[in-house]
Amino acid sequence: MKAIVVTDQAAGTAGMALVERPDPDAARLASLAGASYGDVVVQVHASGFTGDELAWPSTWIDRLGRDRTPSIPGHELAGVVSALGYGTTGLSIGQRVFGLADWTRDGTLAEYAVVEARNLAPLPGDVDFTVAAGVVMSGLTAWQGLFDHGRLRDGQTVLVHGAAGAVGSMAAQLAREAGAHVIGTGRAASRQTALDFGAREFVDLENDALEDVGEVDLVFDVLGGDIQKRSAGLIRPGGTLVTVTGPPEARPADGLAIDFVVVSDRAQLGEIAQRVRDGRVRTNIGTIATLDDAVAAFNPTKRISGKTIISIRP
Ligand SMILES: NC(=O)c1ccc[n+]([C@@H]2O[C@H](COP(=O)([O-])OP(=O)(O)OC[C@H]3O[C@@H](n4cnc5c(N)ncnc54)[C@H](OP(=O)(O)O)[C@@H]3O)[C@@H](O)[C@H]2O)c1
Repeated sequence: MKAIVVTDQAAGTAGMALVERPDPDAARLASLAGASYGDVVVQVHASGFTGDELAWPSTWIDRLGRDRTPSIPGHELAGVVSALGYGTTGLSIGQRVFGLADWTRDGTLAEYAVVEARNLAPLPGDVDFTVAAGVVMSGLTAWQGLFDHGRLRDGQTVLVHGAAGAVGSMAAQLAREAGAHVIGTGRAASRQTALDFGAREFVDLENDALEDVGEVDLVFDVLGGDIQKRSAGLIRPGGTLVTVTGPPEARPADGLAIDFVVVSDRAQLGEIAQRVRDGRVRTNIGTIATLDDAVAAFNPTKRISGKTIISIRP
């Protein structure tokens, strides 16, 4: 199969290469000798990659700390189940699926990927593969940050940083649908995009005073650093700072600071797919490229906003 691999962490996305790799061995997966309990093989139709994946340790080492290069990056996928491993339940060969691949195994920028069945959800026939791949990571991250960790409720105010980006635009849409007042942030050029994705107000972080937004119940942080620290001071007693950038650098005076790493969740993927189908959420895809053009797409000459999705099969 064709796959994108990385071998040199220092090279970043410029070190990505399109190579030939062996197809997953379906017969071995299905046998007891394979010990691949619960795995399925997915014929990948569309794959997503997050910009700073190559900085994550899990791209380079496995769960036992062993070098796993050359590794295949990309963790979001939509495709069709082509083989079932030993002990797999809940999915069928030929089924359309989408989900999140394990961080510490070969990923989805390939014609086939091996994924634990529990990390996949059925994909309705009327949702395009590229759209589905474009909402996996952003949709799950936004859902878990707002509702699982942030416990957002109707009528509350949420400050969503990077509201024109992949995760932020999804958080803005889901929070607004949940009845929250959404204040989005970003650079000046992102204002209209953030408003289009559901923010009621926008703070230009380079020119406006963040402190002018007043008190909020929840901060959804994707930026970290100084912006995160200043945001903690805006949180009402009992409120929460949720961040996806690593251990929190600040805590609200009377509230919680929670960081998390997104996990795949079949029920939440179903909720997200339903919202895509009925138009309550839309994707924020900037570029769609083929696998042959993927390395160039991940090394753009100018900044692209929105996700880059690799369409591997129509
Ligand atoms: N922990 C987890 O589970 C998890 C899951 C998903 C994502 N993440 C992380 O979350 C972060 C965001 O991911 P994403 O896919 O949403 O990225 P993205 O699409 O690039 O969105 C980031 C947004 O923030 C804006 N931004 C960045 N720096 C800014 C600054 N200094 N001032 C104002 N605006 C700024 C960007 O604007 P420009 O485009 O103009 O720069 C963009 O609109 C990444 O670090 C990613 O690794 C973590």
